[in-house]
Amino acid sequence: MEPTINYSEKIPNNVNLADDRALQRALERWQPEFRDWWRDMGPDGSANYDVYLRTAVSVEPQGWAQFDYVRMPDYRWGIFLNPVPAGATIGFGEHKGQPVWQDVPGEHRANLRRIIVTQGDTEPASVEQQRHLGLTCPSLYDLRNLFQVNVEEGRHLWAMVYLLHRYFGRDGREEADALLTRRSGDADNPRILGAFNEKTPDWLSLFMFTYFTDRDGKFQLAALAESGFEPLARTTKFMLTEEAHHMFVGESGVSRVIQRTCDVMKEHRTDDSSQVRAQGAIDLETIQRYLNFHYSVTIDLFGADQSSNAATFYTAGLKGRFDESKRNDDHVLKGRSYPVQSVIDGAFAERDVPMLNALNEVLRDDFIRDSIGGVGRWNKVIEKAGVPFRLSVPHKAFHRKIGTLSQVRVSPDGRVVSDAAWNTSVDQWLPSAGDRAFVASLMGRVVEPGRFAGWIAPPAVGVNRQPVNFEYVRFN
Ligand SMILES: [Fe+2]
Ligand SMILES: [Fe+2]
Repeated sequence: MEPTINYSEKIPNNVNLADDRALQRALERWQPEFRDWWRDMGPDGSANYDVYLRTAVSVEPQGWAQFDYVRMPDYRWGIFLNPVPAGATIGFGEHKGQPVWQDVPGEHRANLRRIIVTQGDTEPASVEQQRHLGLTCPSLYDLRNLFQVNVEEGRHLWAMVYLLHRYFGRDGREEADALLTRRSGDADNPRILGAFNEKTPDWLSLFMFTYFTDRDGKFQLAALAESGFEPLARTTKFMLTEEAHHMFVGESGVSRVIQRTCDVMKEHRTDDSSQVRAQGAIDLETIQRYLNFHYSVTIDLFGADQSSNAATFYTAGLKGRFDESKRNDDHVLKGRSYPVQSVIDGAFAERDVPMLNALNEVLRDDFIRDSIGGVGRWNKVIEKAGVPFRLSVPHKAFHRKIGTLSQVRVSPDGRVVSDAAWNTSVDQWLPSAGDRAFVASLMGRVVEPGRFAGWIAPPAVGVNRQPVNFEYVRFN
């Protein structure tokens, strides 16, 4: 039986932190740095709000969450790992079948540190990207959901920092400090990955981000949850339970925007985007362009389609595949191949490459399959309203910045196009300055319980069985 989380300690944890005084002291030195970062880069102006938040009280699947009003600077960020499974063995790679590692093997130390730092860097980055959105919330319900995502991303940072402090000595502590000094979008000291330096300037961007980019988080965490380095596997398993809520915020948020748009289209008997806009709703064409943008920058996060690092991480047992244990193959993958797309003489061609080198592409394809599901559910909302429009994800090669496919200009429907054709059409394919200005013009601040901005439908149900008009945030 795993200890219940001890909230009487300065740093709530279920890892017996009190037994390791040096580690506890190091983390207690990092804690005020984190609090300073939260004050400077966390949700703008929110320090005195009482927010109806869930806090982890145990990592057991039943009843790990407790709901109550909390001021975010007082949120009990802590260190929670899933229980140690007895006798676990490494599930893939050249060490397959050997006992999992409780400590970092010397020869994999640099790679593991890099994996943990890269994951850890995304967590504070997304909080920074979203820090102004509270000022333009469409409802108290949505404001509360935003803050829930933000505090949990803060906790994900704690999760990675614990691993750095506990297992990587002085360079781990230095990396933990650096996680608080990089800044999303900063020209001199940016976050590590591209999508985490983009702006999230409005709520449609937030919903697309939490649908697509938090889903990248799901797939990365699921691959790390297979790791032979057992503390990393247990940490990421618990993070995955929180990630599910972030993706819910995105899927239901976009769905409610679409619902409102369709209601306006029906009420005013129009499919003309300028008339939809005149009624204060977001036209489906603009929603499609936002989708194209967030989808394409997110699939870049999986990295190059062929990568010797990906092969090394897998063979060494550091990072598995999504659902590794459910796959029916040898879990070593030597001599196996995988088809990747390339461009030869202006046309797409599929090429078989060694699967070990293509594992980024394997994970990207798993992500693509998963993300298409929600787009189908959004289309159901449009279909139900009797509107003939359908949303779709763009071609995999559209608007890519990383990998083989970044060498060509490709339309959302998968045609290779010239630079000139790209420039002519890009405003139909990606959000234009005009689209962004229009969406920004809708972003007011609605904070009366039960009221919703005119561009989004209310949710079907509230949080934790509270009514939709519950006072999810109290301003002081
Ligand atoms: Fe996260
Ligand atoms: Fe997340």
